[in-house]
Amino acid sequence: MRHEADDSPSRLRLDLPDEAATLALGARLAAALRPGMSVWLSGDLGAGKTTLVRGLLRALHYHGRVKSPTFSLVEVYSFSSFNLYHFDLYRFADPLEWEEAGFREYFNPQSLCLVEWPERAAGCLPEPDVEIRLAFSGEGRVAELTGRTEAGRVCLRQLAI
Ligand SMILES: Nc1ncnc2c1ncn2[C@@H]1O[C@H](COP(=O)(O)OP(=O)(O)OP(=O)(O)O)[C@@H](O)[C@H]1O
Ligand SMILES: [Mg+2]
Repeated sequence: MRHEADDSPSRLRLDLPDEAATLALGARLAAALRPGMSVWLSGDLGAGKTTLVRGLLRALHYHGRVKSPTFSLVEVYSFSSFNLYHFDLYRFADPLEWEEAGFREYFNPQSLCLVEWPERAAGCLPEPDVEIRLAFSGEGRVAELTGRTEAGRVCLRQLAI
């Protein structure tokens, strides 16, 4: 029997040699994440954060355009049983705007929140279930995933199978 009820964060490191690999990781995340969870996506400009979100949305059968909501801060995708909120906080400047726009309520049990540039709004955001760091590695990328909550660790264990 395995005893894994500890609260140490679990980690997963994955090589993503090309764009297709990033899209495929997004698709695997679509199957492993649940409504109520939030994911932080960190990494330099062009590291592949939006590509990952695109892969996830495609796996959920969304075939429209997926663009980084840099100016609007958030893009909403409605599915039958939950909403997916894709934040891009690169241009986030004003915590008051966060409150006034009601973004806090976007983090609820019926929504899945994916957040690019979370460090720009650190004081406003709730703690994530999963943190994903994308970094350049040769021609490709490497992803480091950390489970920060029990739900996040369950998600990572599912991905690791
Ligand atoms: N694993 C990979 N290997 C090589 N290229 C990749 C990989 N994943 C994504 N890319 C490419 O990197 C480019 C930038 O990707 P993307 O727009 O997703 O980055 P981003 O992290 O969202 O950037 P920003 O911070 O500007 O929003 C795209 O051209 C995409 O095809
Ligand atoms: Mg982006």
